[in-house]
Amino acid sequence: MEGRILAANWKMNPPTKEEALKLAAEMEGLLEGLPLTKLLFPPFVYLPLLKLRGIELGAQDVFYEEKGAFTGEVSPLMLKSVGATWVIVGHSERRNVIGETDEIVRRKAEAALKAGLRVIYCVGEKLPDREAGRHLQVVEEQLSYVPVSENVVVAYEPVWAIGTGRNATPEQIEEMHAFIKAKVGLKVLYGGSVKERNARELAAVPNVDGFLVGGASLRPREFRKIGEALAE
Ligand code: 13P
Repeated sequence: MEGRILAANWKMNPPTKEEALKLAAEMEGLLEGLPLTKLLFPPFVYLPLLKLRGIELGAQDVFYEEKGAFTGEVSPLMLKSVGATWVIVGHSERRNVIGETDEIVRRKAEAALKAGLRVIYCVGEKLPDREAGRHLQVVEEQLSYVPVSENVVVAYEPVWAIGTGRNATPEQIEEMHAFIKAKVGLKVLYGGSVKERNARELAAVPNVDGFLVGGASLRPREFRKIGEALAE
């Protein structure tokens, strides 16, 4: 892995393959030359269509079984066979919208590692936990499920900062990233409303090994600026 990590999580966007190809081509051109490990997590269906210079591909989720009667699921080997080298597990949208538990997330991470994929393992507290001062406890519990491996990177994504335009403060990020490093000793990315306007300030926080970017990763010029801040 070269340098810090700049990861684009497109979530369930863009709406068509034509737009996905166009967006990916723009991103490929604009990120060229940045001394970072660059990752793109498009929706599953676009994975086999994309082959990008200098950008590794990953899936936004994976199932924990290798094959069989699991309608609608996608296995680690299937992802590998269409070009993915990474997967995200435990994103808060899967934990909170789909209802995935820590145990399920752990199984997904283990299955992905077994297949030779690298893993971004997401953790993060909800607003009531932060307000009650329970954020470290909540994340500590989530971390107890993380398989410690050189192929795992943790992403700290406070749920209240995702898609809200309200990022965690540098102090909050510094505290949590130091805590995560002390517990598991892995690289830690920050995610949650990373934008061009805050990238420089957040990239300067100690123990930030990169960013996992949602909304702004759909805007290639802004995404390039975020990459420049990380590469400084
Ligand atoms: P936003 O950058 O849109 O807040 O999303 C963050 C995220 O969930 C990345 O996985």
